[in-house]
Amino acid sequence: MKVICTEQSQVLATQVARALKTTVVDVKYSRFPDGELYLMAGEIDDEMIIVGSVVDNDSLVQLMLLADACDRATNRLVLPYMAYARQDKRFKAGEPISSRVVARALSQGVSEVITVNIHEKEVLKSFAVPAQNISLAKDIGTYIKTLRLANPLILAPDEGAIAFAEQVASAEGWEFDHLEKTRLSGVEVRMAPRQLSAKSRSVVIVDDIISTGGTIATAAGMLYEQGAKDIFAACVHGVFTGGAYNRLMATGIRDVICSDTIERSCSRISAADRIAQALRKR
Ligand code: R5P
Repeated sequence: MKVICTEQSQVLATQVARALKTTVVDVKYSRFPDGELYLMAGEIDDEMIIVGSVVDNDSLVQLMLLADACDRATNRLVLPYMAYARQDKRFKAGEPISSRVVARALSQGVSEVITVNIHEKEVLKSFAVPAQNISLAKDIGTYIKTLRLANPLILAPDEGAIAFAEQVASAEGWEFDHLEKTRLSGVEVRMAPRQLSAKSRSVVIVDDIISTGGTIATAAGMLYEQGAKDIFAACVHGVFTGGAYNRLMATGIRDVICSDTIERSCSRISAADRIAQALRKR
């Protein structure tokens, strides 16, 4: 068994390979003069683990090219972050179901798919091969322990993330809640924990994805107004679109933490061990 990866997931792939006590196949990446992507894989094994997050269109194409370059092997695909997963239905007539398009495309040439905190589990059904999802919620909880916060409140930014917050909080039996939006007037909205008070407490807002950071930045401003002592933000997938990280830090958030499903300098939690565990089970 060997590991092979896209350009954007090199560090995570190396950690996965280490955990599996194997090596990463060398791949030469370049472009044709017209901008088309090209790659050439080194020596592949009969059993290959393809590791790559879809973080942009190039990484999606690289994954498809890798699966084809390894077409004499049995391939398992690890998809730590799957862009397009949020367009999981036709919200308006005329739209595509983009998650289905990507899942179908990435099912070609692989026998199994492993995702990490996929935005919507229903998307797993769109793969043409067996697909399973693993969660880093417990690992985020373990990381939060290292912050040594006294009695932190774990907060989901919305009701949809409450199960995730509960799993994070279970690392140490912390209290958890979710933010509720109340419209005070045509222009004024208040966000506050549904049941618990943030006053004088350390708050950790947890979510699967931080994209524009808008949700968490607004929440952090309001929680500070409500007397929160300090606020941290932790997510699995640090997308950080268009200056999101800076915007979050500017709100006074003490620290923003993500995993290495998208490799960032604030990736303090690695998905490697969980991925290796899931791969070993087969
Ligand atoms: C939405 O359902 C997701 O779980 C995240 O809450 C969302 O993607 C965050 O987006 P943003 O950072 O742009 O507010």
